[in-house]
Order: sequence, then C-alpha cells, then structure tokens
Amino acid sequence: MRASVLHRYGGPEELTVAELPRPVPGPGQILVRAAASAVNPVDIEVRSGQAAAHVSHPFPMVLGWDLSGTVEECGSGVTRFAVGDPVVAMSAQMATGVGTHAEYVALDAALAAPAPRGVDLVEAAALPLAGLTADQALELLAPEPGSTLLVTGAVGAVGGFAVQLAAERGVKVLALARPSDVEAAKALGAHEVFTAERPVPHGAADLLLETAGQPGAVDGVRDGGRAVSIVPTAAPKAERGIDVRMSFVEQDGDRLARLSRLVSESVLTLRVGEVFSLAGVAEAHRRLAAGGSRGKLLIAPDRAV
Ligand SMILES: NC(=O)c1ccc[n+]([C@@H]2O[C@H](COP(=O)([O-])OP(=O)(O)OC[C@H]3O[C@@H](n4cnc5c(N)ncnc54)[C@H](OP(=O)(O)O)[C@@H]3O)[C@@H](O)[C@H]2O)c1
Repeated sequence: MRASVLHRYGGPEELTVAELPRPVPGPGQILVRAAASAVNPVDIEVRSGQAAAHVSHPFPMVLGWDLSGTVEECGSGVTRFAVGDPVVAMSAQMATGVGTHAEYVALDAALAAPAPRGVDLVEAAALPLAGLTADQALELLAPEPGSTLLVTGAVGAVGGFAVQLAAERGVKVLALARPSDVEAAKALGAHEVFTAERPVPHGAADLLLETAGQPGAVDGVRDGGRAVSIVPTAAPKAERGIDVRMSFVEQDGDRLARLSRLVSESVLTLRVGEVFSLAGVAEAHRRLAAGGSRGKLLIAPDRAV
C-alpha cells in the first residue's frame, strides 16, 4: 500500500510517499481502507523532532491521527463493525506509532465509530482529533447551562467544535478570534466575539477554554473561575483563585460515536479547508504551519495530486 512516510526528523521535505506492507488486523482490530485523514499541529511537532522525547517508534514513521474510511477486514472477535461499514477513528499516533496517512490502517475497533450520515466520507476525517479534544476539554471544564465560557482560537479546529458543543448545551459563549473571523465565530454559535483590538473585559467569563496559545486570556475569567488549556507550552497562570488544568486528548470510540451522531443531526458542522493527496502531505504541513487555514486540511489517498 502507499503511505506518506517520515524517514528522519526535519522539515516537510522529509515526508515522501513509499510502498509499505498492507497491515493485517489483529484480534479485536479492523482494517480500514482510508477515505481521508487530516493534518494536525501534533504532526508538525512529531515531524520536526520537537516531540521526540514522547515518540518511541522507529523510522520510517507514518504520521496522522484522524481517519475516515470503510471497513475492509475484521480481525477475530470484532462485533462492533462489519466489512463495508463507513467509520471514523482517532489513532494517538505519537503514543502508538499507528499513523493514518496511508491507504490502509489497522486499529482497535474500540477506537472507531460509525461515520456521520449525510456527510461526505472524506470530509468526515475533519471530526475525530479536534472533536474529541474539544469534547474532553469541555468535560473537564464542566460548564453549567447558563454559565459564561470564553473560548480562544474560536474558529480553529478545536475551538470551533468547542464553541458549537458549548452553545448547544446552553452555555453563553464568548469568543476570542482574529478580527477577520468575527462573523465566522458568530456563525458557530458565539454570543459575543472579542479580538486583540477589542479585548475581553476583565473577569467577564466564568470559564476559559484556551486553544490558541494565549495564556493571558485568563484575565477574562472571574475570580474563582475555572480554566482548561490544551496548549502545554503556554499554560495560563493560576491566579485569583482560578482553577487551571491541562487537557490531553484520548482515544475513545464511544465518545466519537456520540460526536458523529451530532454531525449526522447537523448539531456539529464540519469545516474543511483543502484536500491533498498523499504526495501533498508536505504541502499540507507547510500550510498548517503558516497559520490562517480555515477548515481542516485533509489527506485523501485516492487523490492523484
Ligand atoms: N492537548 C491536546 O490534546 C491537544 C489536542 C489538539 C490540539 N492541541 C493544540 O491546540 C492548539 C490548537 O489546535 P487546533 O488544531 O485547533 O489548531 P488551529 O486549527 O490552527 O486553531 C488555532 C486557532 O487559534 C488562532 N490563533 C492563534 N494565535 C492567535 C492569536 N494570537 N490571536 C487570535 N487567534 C489566534 C489561529 O488563527 P490563525 O490560523 O490565524 O493563526 C487558529 O484559528 C495547537 O497548539 C495544538 O497543538 C492540543
């Protein structure tokens, strides 16, 4: 099978397309014929070697966490899925070494969920990592309906899902975003949108979900409020009795199934930027690193270019 592989840590040019043996699903695993995967900030950290202390698998390495596709084969004991089922999954590539930028991916059936209905299977790859990260961070924050939540990076991949999920639960969402993204943040469900030019008033929110590497946003939280950050390099300071925690995404097929249903019901919207081929993974890394992407950058192995 074809896969995008990393031969050594370095720039995007270290990513090339290679032939690898097609994986064989073990007990409890499914083999998925990939419709698409996506590029995430963590792929850039792994590719560059920035995350090398947390990576223990040998080169050549296949990157990628998100996956959408069709079940091609089931290992022994799999009852959750049958051959031909459309699925989505998240593979914690950095920890497990199982990357998704490939034509076929074998992973535990418990990590997968039925793909959302009414959505193109390629576009469904925009859901898993960002959706799970947003949902798990919100669970840690535990916002009560009627409480006020400030979301930074509100039109980013994770922030955008967080705004939608929180607004759907009756939370009043304040968004911090670029001036050009004010309307987009409102369309996702933000009640009010702030920018660098129009800062969040001190103490305006009960809660903060920080996704943009803007730890100073904790100033917008009231005394004794709560903050969750997903950016470990820029944790907000615990001040004024504010409870600050970090959230790290975890693989969870059942939670992903719930998020997938929300997409089917049009409660959650998937935002896709551009679709690249396997040979385009390097270019997708450059685009993501440059910032300004709006919508997920997807990798579809069936694309010729
Ligand atoms: N802890 C975890 O488990 C976990 C999981 C997923 C992601 N993450 C981390 O979370 C962060 C967000 O991930 P993501 O996939 O959502 O990335 P993303 O799609 O690039 O979203 C980040 C958003 O923040 C915006 N932003 C950045 N700096 C800003 C600033 N100074 N002012 C206003 N807006 C700003 C970006 O706008 P521009 O594009 O214009 O810069 C973008 O819209 C990354 O650091 C990622 O590594 C952590």
